[in-house]
Amino acid sequence: MSTQTILKAIASRRTIYALKPELPTGVALSDVQSIVQAIIKDTPTSFNSQVNRAIILTGDAHKKVWGQVVDGIEGDAGKKRPQSAKDEAYGSIIFFTDDATTEGLQAKFPAWSSAFPDFANHSTGAAQISTWTTLATINVFGHLQHFNGYIKAALGDAVPKTWTVHAQLVFGSKAGEPGEKTYIDNEVKVISSL
Ligand SMILES: Cc1cc2nc3c(=O)[nH]c(=O)nc-3n(C[C@H](O)[C@H](O)[C@H](O)COP(=O)(O)O)c2cc1C
Repeated sequence: MSTQTILKAIASRRTIYALKPELPTGVALSDVQSIVQAIIKDTPTSFNSQVNRAIILTGDAHKKVWGQVVDGIEGDAGKKRPQSAKDEAYGSIIFFTDDATTEGLQAKFPAWSSAFPDFANHSTGAAQISTWTTLATINVFGHLQHFNGYIKAALGDAVPKTWTVHAQLVFGSKAGEPGEKTYIDNEVKVISSL
């Protein structure tokens, strides 16, 4: 695998809101599952605690969960994005961290106690963006959402109570192009003496 291939994949991941509720030709749900599984396995975690969890919602479960988000939000403007997730996406990947794991680390390494929730946040973020990037390489596109409390409530007993919801990667086939993206001047300098 070349460096250019990796950098191209990173640049190719974009927020795509215009989705069709299908997978691209030649891609199966099991391909998506394998990618998410590999990323949850290989994303680093503090002290190798393996705090990351994920599930994939599709079919009726996806529609039911997003329907509950729509119903829970007041005002039409706020309903727009979850309604589109429900109607236009094939599925959604829900990212969690397991609070039981974080609390275990806090008990074992009290000097670092206050850092472990941040470390869990960092690690789920890494898993989210790796997943988003890798799915784009098989033409599965999407957008990242944070209806965390609504999603947790809608999932009920389907996931352990100790799992905290961090994000939803809503995915499907691309039905439109991403918006224009502008960049700030943001040079990474090398400092070799101060
Ligand atoms: C940590 C993080 C949180 C984000 N939260 C949301 C969100 O809640 N809703 C949303 O529509 N987009 C969300 N986005 C998408 C960003 O707005 C988007 O990545 C950014 O504008 C750059 O565009 P690009 O993804 O096309 O490169 C989030 C992105 C990141 C990295």
